[in-house]
Amino acid sequence: MIPLQATRRLSTRFLAHPSVSFKRCFSQKTSSTTLQSKILPLPSSTFILVVALGLGAYSLDARSAANEYIWCPLIRFFTDAEEGHKLGINFLKSGVYPRLFSDVDDPVLKVNVFGKTLSNPVGMAAGFDKHGEVIDPLFNLGFGYVEIGSITPLPQPGNPLPRFFRLSQDEAVINRYGFNSVGHLQVLTDLKRRFTKLHVQNPNANSNSFRDEKMLAINLGKNKTGDEVDDYIKGVQNFGPYADALVINVSSPNTPGLRDLQNEAKLTNLLTKVVAERNNLEGELIDSTRKPPILVKVAPDLTEPEIKSIAQSAKDAKIDGIILSNTTIQRPVDQLITKGSIVQETGGLSGKPLKPISLKAFRILRKYTKDSDLVLVGCGGISNGKDAIEFAKAGATYIELYTAFAYKGPGLARKIKDEITDELKREGKTWMEIVGSDDK
Ligand SMILES: Cc1cc2nc3c(=O)[nH]c(=O)nc-3n(C[C@H](O)[C@H](O)[C@H](O)COP(=O)(O)O)c2cc1C
Repeated sequence: MIPLQATRRLSTRFLAHPSVSFKRCFSQKTSSTTLQSKILPLPSSTFILVVALGLGAYSLDARSAANEYIWCPLIRFFTDAEEGHKLGINFLKSGVYPRLFSDVDDPVLKVNVFGKTLSNPVGMAAGFDKHGEVIDPLFNLGFGYVEIGSITPLPQPGNPLPRFFRLSQDEAVINRYGFNSVGHLQVLTDLKRRFTKLHVQNPNANSNSFRDEKMLAINLGKNKTGDEVDDYIKGVQNFGPYADALVINVSSPNTPGLRDLQNEAKLTNLLTKVVAERNNLEGELIDSTRKPPILVKVAPDLTEPEIKSIAQSAKDAKIDGIILSNTTIQRPVDQLITKGSIVQETGGLSGKPLKPISLKAFRILRKYTKDSDLVLVGCGGISNGKDAIEFAKAGATYIELYTAFAYKGPGLARKIKDEITDELKREGKTWMEIVGSDDK
């Protein structure tokens, strides 16, 4: 409480000499100390220290609103989309990023999946950490599941620049990266180094995340001119031992012909071979009782018969799950605030405008898979707890996001977890109890 007399004295001095009073009040040591001691019970140095520590701690906390409203917009102002992406990776890689000072997941968030438990259902989707450079920082930011990739067998540069565009007013982006990848060898070398280091610290770990109740997934792509089966088989052989789940990406719109692999005959053939290869994995698997589950990642731009045939391929090949969805080639122009030629850039659109498209396709997929054990993963335009819950009720065992993280910053996973927890408690349910509850 500021004593009334001191406030009056202060305002009288300001009013009397507005041009010089600020200096008088605050630059003269004696008078400022006197004022300080009168209006606050702390000595000035302690006061400044407390304020500085408070502000410091606040801006170092990933949940700070400064990330969403100051730092992310500043990065967007000074960089183009690809530079901003690289900057984000570099901050995380060098350890210069805000932390979550407490990140305990409420038990209502627990997910039972693939015979394991995740402490929360919020995942980072493929494409943010394409080369597996920031796995641990992403877990530190609260994600329960981190998917790296897509990784191609051989290094390839991807499409020419520019290839990544922001539609900021829509909290969306369009990308046509085209599987820029450092290739299997480089990622494998880094993963092995990480594995060796963490295995020494935690020899009893039962997950490649080396975290309790978290999973590391590896997303496999194919080279532009690579073989449409062998490239994925190589991925299973190389990354199987380091993954808690392997994702077969047949839905990027930026690799010519890739989406054709979603055709029923091709997909069944590919997935059957992938599963056979996974079953052959031997050696030092982190969990000797279990081989990594196989998921296929599909597009949102599919007709009902196409979705039905994908569900059939997944069942026939006996894979473990389906991620829906990748980016869309549609441009829902009526719903976009952004206008002009940028909207028509070639590539995949992601972020908020994708959600109705992906959720609609997701509901159809659920219709054709609910008679099976296939795990469905919801992805596409998820940016808050409400979106996540919508996908869960539609049948998603867990969810993934990318674009919203780019707009909202490092506190997003924690924020979404808090929103989901609040809603679950309001409904008196757990996450697992709401999965697929729209069916009932
Ligand atoms: C810049 C960018 C790169 C992406 N790269 C990949 C990729 O390499 N492999 C993949 O399976 N998905 C990739 N995706 C798709 C995302 O994983 C996700 O499926 C899609 O963006 C929809 O989710 P979102 O709206 O939360 O971003 C990429 C997305 C973006 C925005």
